[in-house]
Amino acid sequence: MDVRVHNIRKEFGRFPALDDVSLDIRSGELIALLGPSGSGKTTLLRLVAGLESPTEGTIFFGDEDASQKTVQERNIGFVFQHYALFRHMTVLDNVAFGLKVRPSNRRPPSAEIRKRALDLLDLVQLSGLDKRYPAQLSGGQRQRVALARAMAVEPNVLLLDEPFGALDAQVRKELRKWLRDIHDRTGHTTIFVTHDQDEALELADRVVVMSKGVIEQVGTPDEIYDHPVSPFVYGFIGQSNCLNVTLQNGEIWFEDRPIGLRAPSEPDGPAKLHFRPHDIELIDGCGGCLAGLVAASRRVAGTRHLELDLGRNHPHVEIELSPERAAAGDHSRIAFRPTKWKLFREEQANAAATPEPPAEVETAEPFELARTGS
Ligand SMILES: Nc1ncnc2c1ncn2[C@@H]1O[C@H](COP(=O)(O)OP(=O)(O)O)[C@@H](O)[C@H]1O
Ligand SMILES: [Mg+2]
Repeated sequence: MDVRVHNIRKEFGRFPALDDVSLDIRSGELIALLGPSGSGKTTLLRLVAGLESPTEGTIFFGDEDASQKTVQERNIGFVFQHYALFRHMTVLDNVAFGLKVRPSNRRPPSAEIRKRALDLLDLVQLSGLDKRYPAQLSGGQRQRVALARAMAVEPNVLLLDEPFGALDAQVRKELRKWLRDIHDRTGHTTIFVTHDQDEALELADRVVVMSKGVIEQVGTPDEIYDHPVSPFVYGFIGQSNCLNVTLQNGEIWFEDRPIGLRAPSEPDGPAKLHFRPHDIELIDGCGGCLAGLVAASRRVAGTRHLELDLGRNHPHVEIELSPERAAAGDHSRIAFRPTKWKLFREEQANAAATPEPPAEVETAEPFELARTGS
């Protein structure tokens, strides 16, 4: 089902957790909400579920205004970071729960419920574990049961709030691939919350980058990584460097010299130059380029990372080279030039800034699925 979030504002007290957020989610899409803690991801998910109501704005399910629908009628599947499986029920009963509690006119016959639950356990690769209790499962297995339970009701939308957040890195990675695979097979419209950029970029059809209650950018993983639209997105997704530069007659200057990069349509004045560590070329005998002294060198898997000191008034710059290129010792001088870069002017940088939110408030405990009737 299509879900359209339309100019949503959500205040807690007078502080806006979401400020004029709009988002169109297409039927069958897997969308990741990505942002630092406190950026409003969970709040947006709870608004879609109907667990919170907006201060302003509307959420549409298809063409219908969802505020006219109860939580039950929205028919949502929800999975939380801290699995809320029913401890006293077997795995099978957990998965079947949402169907068993339906009013009799909408409840499938019990043989059908059992078959559907067993099929779902098969889908999440837990067949044979149907008689176990949650305490007899690993963390990853429990989250797979939670997902099967959320899917059992054939939800209009599947909402996953950091579902792998409590699991260790290896299991997270496996479940990430597995979830994408399940999504491709079942095609549920899915909103997935994470603060982990790798997870978002690897899993999602489109990524929604959030910061301080606003959407900074929506795009495919490639668009978000290759064409960040704001300093925040540049800094939050992947590694990036940021240097203070000035523009003079369409040329970019660093301190007292032009560095061989041109931006002909940009007016004169200060700017911030952003570039990624791997988007650089080394230059021999540099006349117009950037240069710095090696402050640290680290081998990271297939690449070498050099930290360069460009002068007292600047943060260190990180560049990435192939290991064989980097016989450079400490304090040796490296001259380079960004090959892909982007300028942001102060007014753009400020436009994205909003007042600091008050200290972090813990959001409500995961609600029991029983309360949604799903
Ligand atoms: N029930 C609540 N009462 C007061 N403030 C809240 C409540 N829920 C969330 N907030 C605040 O709203 C902001 C966004 O929170 P949240 O949506 O949980 O962010 P995220 O999921 O991205 O970490 C935070 O500053 C948080 O403290
Ligand atoms: Mg959250």
